[in-house]
Amino acid sequence: MRWPTRERRDETSTYRTNQRSTMLLRFTLLALLVLAPPCSLATDDSARADDRRVVEAHRGMVVSVSGPASDVGLVVLKDGGNAVDAAVATAFALAVTWPEAGNIGGGGFMLVAPPGKPPECIDYRETAPAAATERMFQPGETNLSHRAVGTPGTVRGLALAHRRHGKLKWRRLLEPAVRLAAEGFAIDAATAESLNDVLKDKDSAKFAEFLRVYGKQNADAPWQAGDRLVQPELAATLRLIADEGPDAFYVGKTADLIVAEMQEGGGLIARDDLARYEAKIREPVRGTYRGYDVFAPPPPSSGGICLVEMLNMLERFDLRKLGRESPQTAHLTIEAMRRAYRDRAAHLGDSDFVTIPQHLTTKEYAAKLAAGIDRQHPTASAALAGEIDLAAESEHTTHFSVIDANGLAVSNTYTLEESFGSRVVVRGAGFLLNNEMGDFNWQPGYTDRSGRIGTTPNLIAPRKRMLSSMTPTIVARDGKPVLITGSPGGRTIINTVLCVVLGVCEFDLDAKDAVDAPRLHHAWFPDRVQLEVRGDAAQRADRTKLADALKSLGHDVRTIDRQGDAHSIFIRNGVYRGYADPRIAGHAAGY
Ligand code: GLY
Repeated sequence: MRWPTRERRDETSTYRTNQRSTMLLRFTLLALLVLAPPCSLATDDSARADDRRVVEAHRGMVVSVSGPASDVGLVVLKDGGNAVDAAVATAFALAVTWPEAGNIGGGGFMLVAPPGKPPECIDYRETAPAAATERMFQPGETNLSHRAVGTPGTVRGLALAHRRHGKLKWRRLLEPAVRLAAEGFAIDAATAESLNDVLKDKDSAKFAEFLRVYGKQNADAPWQAGDRLVQPELAATLRLIADEGPDAFYVGKTADLIVAEMQEGGGLIARDDLARYEAKIREPVRGTYRGYDVFAPPPPSSGGICLVEMLNMLERFDLRKLGRESPQTAHLTIEAMRRAYRDRAAHLGDSDFVTIPQHLTTKEYAAKLAAGIDRQHPTASAALAGEIDLAAESEHTTHFSVIDANGLAVSNTYTLEESFGSRVVVRGAGFLLNNEMGDFNWQPGYTDRSGRIGTTPNLIAPRKRMLSSMTPTIVARDGKPVLITGSPGGRTIINTVLCVVLGVCEFDLDAKDAVDAPRLHHAWFPDRVQLEVRGDAAQRADRTKLADALKSLGHDVRTIDRQGDAHSIFIRNGVYRGYADPRIAGHAAGY
């Protein structure tokens, strides 16, 4: 059975997963069933590894960067909520427990795959305020400012997801976040590190409210794992949203506080921008790869189109025969990335404002691009520039994956853009605002070899959505999800997802190996490969050899320690295998 074609978007039915399993999975599951939920299986491949990295379950799973947030989602599932309920509750909880990217003041994309129905994408990307202009930013202007804040989309996006798919009451889904904010929670090592990093950044010192809310009170010492973070104003804001619904944020008291904050700090968001903000239902980009169906967000995210374009090119080569870690496979992958990111710069922006060419995701176009790949030498990115005269995206976003007992799958990535966004905390409301305006092309016509892009489709316009790389993805086989994945990482996101999808669909890796496998990234410009080097001594030696081989082919290669944080769920034969990527932090919770 193929995935059914799109009919009405609001219908649901059920289906059961039916994928291959292994004896090992069955044995592990049996062993885990005797443990109190969430069942867990420790791995030891990270200095920060804990006992919640790998979890197998049958009835529901949430994998996110934060233990308390994953647990919130799990309890919602156990209380009879479905995966969308759990995703909404987890997203609100992350706004409390993972403040660098979890948010109510930002935006994102949620892919929802109802059983037996075509997946849909909820686009809750921020919009430019009505007063924004194409040239409102000067070269070199800081993006840590009120002016860099886009009209937030998260609260309306989560409300739309809940309205279409949710089972439990809205208020029930916010209660855990309210409690976590009001009573506080013990932060983990990753949150302590994240807070300490931003607090020592000299730019943060310019934001008194930020220091007041996130600074450690009455102590000179930095934050440590186990310290309690209490956020009373955020609790009050969440309580209002719980009681009054999203209008509390967009037209009620919180809107007043946002507008006051904007007026005080020289930002552009006006009452009307908030009141008119709409989350949108969009049809996901759909591709196929060796019999798998791949679903990912359409514009204003570049994720779906670039992912499918790259997969289409790579499907034309026998990567498996060439070997997963071979220089040839890496070379072909880099060349596919180069071409897709060139098209991203040339063509992609908010589809409500610009026309997106339809051919980018076709197999025919990919065949043409693949035929232009020299198997022995890199193509100079400048040679692909065409009409484009030759901007930066932040790594700080967060992704989580959810599935419930009926197989309803949710893949959600959302962000404040930079870590802790603009660092503007709305006074009296206790939450951070994004600096997503930085994802527009700021300087019309100015594209350079450093990766700054000034192409037309992503120029600023009033109420336009800025181009994103967020790629929450669902891979299905025979109409049933087999992989839910996504990642933070700015422009690297799409390539991180590509690496995970290839791991599963091309190289037949299991959950752990596909997520753990070292990644690579090329974004057309800068014309440089980022090669992740991690793992034990032998793995690092292999990656160094690969870097040398790519250099000898003519690539400029930089090695990096870490790319992305892909909290994923694999579905095999009715078993949900959650794998929390060990690169930053992560916790799987299932039952
Ligand atoms: N701000 C990162 C992204 O939207 O891709």
